Amino acid sequence: MSIEGAGPIELSTQRLAPGHAGACHELDQLCRPQGWDLQQWSQELEGSGRNVLGVFHGCALVAVGSSWLILDELQILLLLVHPGHRRIGLASMVLNELMQDGRERGASGASLEVAVGNTAALGLYGSLGFRCTGRRRGYYRDGQDALIQWRQLDDTTG
Ligand SMILES: CC(C)(COP(=O)(O)OP(=O)(O)OC[C@H]1O[C@@H](n2cnc3c(N)ncnc32)[C@H](O)[C@@H]1OP(=O)(O)O)[C@@H](O)C(=O)NCCC(=O)NCCS
Repeated sequence: MSIEGAGPIELSTQRLAPGHAGACHELDQLCRPQGWDLQQWSQELEGSGRNVLGVFHGCALVAVGSSWLILDELQILLLLVHPGHRRIGLASMVLNELMQDGRERGASGASLEVAVGNTAALGLYGSLGFRCTGRRRGYYRDGQDALIQWRQLDDTTG
């Protein structure tokens, strides 16, 4: 995949390691007002059972997605895309790769939580077949409710 207008630099995807904590933290600061600090990123990248995928544009980390398999349920923990690289399909690509990896490891469904006001993420998850199955009131630090989203993985829709 290449970014339109970005010249010959190609995008590449790789599984991230603890050494990527700094780059993840920098990207997070650009994407979320209250993201994870460096220590939380180090823990995420060291955690056993985590699958953290990164997309690089040349040497720059431009997207990250993280998932965790619990029994047969794939939990999507976060997706971040650099503000300068949005709406070109990066989050969809990362989420599809995380779900494919989950299927291969035996997941039958995927779940995640998203703030009720996060229209971009709700649009993304809806476009990939996630449906709302519940709500956690006042779940986020800013008081927003979380919507619980779910989709089957053992079907042929994605
Ligand atoms: C949410 C986020 C990950 C989407 O990343 P992205 O790479 O721009 O998403 P994609 O290009 O794969 O979009 C796929 C579809 O999602 C929907 N979508 C994405 N952004 C949207 C927006 N701002 N408004 C409405 N729908 C949107 C659209 O249906 C889109 O398809 P289209 O572009 O053909 O219309 C990105 O906006 C982001 O990093 N936001 C801040 C962090 C965040 O909230 N992460 C999610 C919770 S952890």
